[in-house]
Amino acid sequence: MKLFLDTAIVDEVREAASWGILGGVTTNPTLVMKSGRKFKEVVIEICNLVDGPVSAEVTSEKAEDMMKEAREFVTWHENIVVKFPMTEEGMKAVSQASKEGIKSNVTLVFTPNQALVAARAGATMVSPFVGRLDDIKEDGMQVVREIVEIFCIYEIETKVLAASIRHPEHVRQAALAGADYCTMPFSVMKELFKHPLTDAGLKKFAEDWAKAKK
Ligand code: E4P
Repeated sequence: MKLFLDTAIVDEVREAASWGILGGVTTNPTLVMKSGRKFKEVVIEICNLVDGPVSAEVTSEKAEDMMKEAREFVTWHENIVVKFPMTEEGMKAVSQASKEGIKSNVTLVFTPNQALVAARAGATMVSPFVGRLDDIKEDGMQVVREIVEIFCIYEIETKVLAASIRHPEHVRQAALAGADYCTMPFSVMKELFKHPLTDAGLKKFAEDWAKAKK
């Protein structure tokens, strides 16, 4: 499973890229708003830092208008994957995008049926939102498991991107479920490095090294 950052903060992308573990980035209109930066500028800067897919989301309602946005986004950088909403118009656009060779990420997926529809429309990847399902007391990870199983049974090539990740346990479960990608906030990615025994072990080694004969 590749590790993606879910952010529009360029410094976070730069740092995660420096660790050598960054497989891609997802953005959304809320994250862009929070960054306080211009959408196009931010997306291009991110693309230049990452060797992998960078999702940029369309905001139109009609398929034709979504496609106008999509065709423009893909001129910005070769890493761009266009995020389309899980709607009828969105699927029209995904199907057209697929014909034009534009990579797509279907966002706001909450059921295996939505994922199947998106895959059949020609989506490159689908994004089940785990945390938002957990927030309403449903089992978000079960949806990821079922999507992975269905895609496996029918040999569907659409990738599964576990999204709306809230904590490291989500990452572990997504990996065990067989998700292809998992996109997470920077804070969650940093937590993946941590264990109290790692810290305690390092402290002890440093103390003992100070006393050792060199
Ligand atoms: C995915 O591409 C979305 O940007 C994201 O994971 C949404 O997560 P949230 O539920 O934390 O907003």
